[in-house]
Amino acid sequence: MKNTPQILLEEYQLGDLKLKNRMVMSSLTRGRAANKGLVPTSLMAEYYAQRASAGLILSEGTWVSSKSIGFINVPGIYTPEQIEGWKMVTKAVHDKGGLIFSQLGHIGSASHPDFFDGELPVGPSAINPQTRSYTPEGFKDSLTPREFTVPEIKQTIQDYKKAAQNAKLAGFDGIEIHAQAGMLIPQFLSLATNVRTDEYGGSIENRSKIIFEILDAVLEVWDSTRVAIKFTPAAISNVGIMCPDEQTIPTFQYILKKLNDYDLAYLHIVGPAEDLTGTAVEILQDNYFSHFRNNYSGRLMVNLGFTQESANAILSDGTADLVSFGVPFIANPDLAERFRYNLPLSNSNPATYYVDGEDGYTNYPTAGSVKNP
Ligand SMILES: Cc1cc2nc3c(=O)[nH]c(=O)nc-3n(C[C@H](O)[C@H](O)[C@H](O)COP(=O)(O)O)c2cc1C
Repeated sequence: MKNTPQILLEEYQLGDLKLKNRMVMSSLTRGRAANKGLVPTSLMAEYYAQRASAGLILSEGTWVSSKSIGFINVPGIYTPEQIEGWKMVTKAVHDKGGLIFSQLGHIGSASHPDFFDGELPVGPSAINPQTRSYTPEGFKDSLTPREFTVPEIKQTIQDYKKAAQNAKLAGFDGIEIHAQAGMLIPQFLSLATNVRTDEYGGSIENRSKIIFEILDAVLEVWDSTRVAIKFTPAAISNVGIMCPDEQTIPTFQYILKKLNDYDLAYLHIVGPAEDLTGTAVEILQDNYFSHFRNNYSGRLMVNLGFTQESANAILSDGTADLVSFGVPFIANPDLAERFRYNLPLSNSNPATYYVDGEDGYTNYPTAGSVKNP
């Protein structure tokens, strides 16, 4: 089988880390920490190790505290048992020559009282985000949350810092802050879910403040080149009322300008999943990633719907430095090999995305036997 030269498969220097290629496995919640303590399991270690030929693996979104939860069987990184569980995962990936960052997340108001013994989840303001939470009893509609007090916000920032410390103890190579649509950070950015009148609401600067407070806290633990952040600026479906608004573009311009001074590992930007015509970010329809490239001077990782061809193209034209793949890694543990030898890709089964067990998780075969005809 022919080995085609591709920029996607070239080595890449990320700070002091050498990535064996520029293809990253993006975070995939798989709901396999099906135990009371939300502790990573040996099955999870096997799953991640199978995918170690990615230049970098990003762990599934992982809770920074017991208060940040909102989806079943998602692991945390706030107890000693969870740290031990993650040690198994990072060792298994490292033993296979891979690298892995921990994705640290908090779901804020997009949760449900079922996770908190009947107590309400907490959000920037007492406004129902109108999304759904996957509870032990199935999907349930979100409710009107309780508004965060300022001391609670400060505590949450400390929770991120502690989780960052725990990620280091667990052997991760770095961390990615999960600011993807629907999560706590975008809830602060959105005009629909944040109507605070204090230092965390109102102006763009105030609504973005939590991002920089979290970054400053985790940078006391990690070198900046081991810290990244992931945003979904143009998410429209499945985010309830947190759709892009008229402040989205200026807000991201402000955030990116400030991030330029942070020398992060990378900025991870998810593309639009749908046509932006008629939305508040319509202007990005034809130049989405170049817009972020032009506003950000550091390393840029791009995501959403990339193929071998489109990933090589966006790297070749210099718009991106790294490309991440989500769904393709589910059924193709050896995705790098498949791209190297131009092998066909397998399709994943959405019915097993969040169901415990090895089916649809660790039992997708590699194409290894096809490689050397
Ligand atoms: C099953 C599933 C779980 C996901 N879980 C997460 C997650 O925990 N954190 C996150 O940032 N993104 C998550 N995503 C989004 C992916 O990381 C990625 O951004 C998205 O799938 C688009 O990339 P793709 O087109 O290459 O799949 C998830 C996506 C899927 C399909």
